Order: sequence, then structure tokens, then C-alpha cells
Amino acid sequence: MKSAYLANRGFLLAVALCGAALLAGCDGRRESREILNVPNMHFSPAYKAQEPNPFSPQGIMMTPPEGTVPVDWQPYTIADADADTLAMALKNPLATTPEVLRTGAKYYATFCTPCHGASGDGMGTVIRANAGMPMPPSLYSEKLVGEWTDGRIFHVLTNGQGNMPGYAARIDAADRWAIIHYVRSIQAAAAKEAGDETSGAAGAGN
Ligand code: HEC
Repeated sequence: MKSAYLANRGFLLAVALCGAALLAGCDGRRESREILNVPNMHFSPAYKAQEPNPFSPQGIMMTPPEGTVPVDWQPYTIADADADTLAMALKNPLATTPEVLRTGAKYYATFCTPCHGASGDGMGTVIRANAGMPMPPSLYSEKLVGEWTDGRIFHVLTNGQGNMPGYAARIDAADRWAIIHYVRSIQAAAAKEAGDETSGAAGAGN
């Protein structure tokens, strides 16, 4: 009878110890795991950009097929020889809105001022530093104001001219057109200033 009692106590102790051990594994957080019976595409075999790609014939990243162009990109095919006819006929697709002028001013300040100067007079920091770049012509010359259309200027911004690099790869076409609107606004400001000076000298006396 006594041994049965002791055996019973031993059993209870074992149960208590097991319970304690089980509880020690719990930290109060509940976990739930999704059970996927049909995983389908839950785990897709994605490849990192620079990883070997077993699906391409060369085992590497695929080059786009010949003739592929970026979305929204238009090739510019007018050669320098045709600039005075074909480029001259191109129309600026943007209207002159305050936003377009702001964009144009921003790009002009970034890409054009180093050589052409903030006012377009051709005295940018690169020219003043005498860094070997010839002084560009004024952006409010009679030729640019009176003869050249926006399209003709677009041709210079796209293909470059003489020592000036082209910006086709660095400035989107729309932003190049916006720069031209901004250049037109500097030209108008310069013309107004010149007009004010002339009328002042002539003593028109407003
Ligand atoms: C690295 C200096 C440099 C930068 C930057 C530069 N230009 Fe020029 N630009 C020149 C030079 C030099 C010429 C004269 C090129 C020639 O005909 O030999 C020129 C010519 C031009 C002409 C034609 C002027 C004419 O009378 O034939 C226009 C228009 C013009 N630039 C606009 C711009 C605009 C707008 C930007 C900014 C997107 C710009 N340029 C950026 C140096 C520069």
C-alpha cells in the first residue's frame, strides 16, 4: 500500500516537472503559421539583377532586342545639315505656363549657366575662370531672337553645336523645350531692358 502511494507521488512529480518545462517554452506571445496546402506561386524563383539567369541563352542578363527604346522616348533624327530647314519647322509642344518656366529655369540654372551665364550673356563661371572654353555667343543675339525658331534652338540643345555638347542623353525632350521657353523669357527681359535704356537715352520721358 505504501509503495503504491510512493509510486503515485513519483508520477505526480513527473507530471508537474513536465508541465513546468512546457510552460517555460511559452513567453506569452501567440504564434500562428500559415499552412499552405497548394503553395502555387507563393515562393517564386526570383533572380537578383546581377545573378546568372538560366533562362537567357548566354546565362546572363538579357540585352533588350535591337531597336528597343525607353517608354515615352522619341528618336531625334534631324542631321546638322538639315537643321535650318527641318529643325526650323519643329514646334515647341509646350505652352508657356508658370510651371514650364519654373522647370526651364531650374534646368537652365543647372546645365546652361556654367557657360552661358545666368543672364545668357555668355559670361558663365567656366568662361570667367578662363578654363579653355571659348565664350559662347549671347543668347539674345538678333539671330536667336529674330530668326531662329524654338525648333532650331532645340536642335542645338539636342545635338550640340561646335564646342557645346548635346543634351539628348541628359535632359528629357520636354525639359529641353521648357528650357527654350525660359530662354525666350530671358530674351524678352533683355529686350525690355534695352528698350528702357534706348527710350531713356532718347529722352522719351514716360
Ligand atoms: C560647356 C559650355 C556650354 C554649356 C554647358 C552650354 N553651352 Fe550653349 N554654347 C556653348 C558654346 C561654346 C556655343 C557656341 C558653339 C559654336 O557655335 O561653336 C554655344 C551655343 C549655343 C547656342 C547657339 C548660339 C548661336 O548663336 O549659334 C544656343 C541656343 C545655346 N548654346 C544654348 C544653350 C543652352 C540652353 C544650354 C543649357 C542646356 C547650353 N547652351 C549649355 C557652350 C555651352
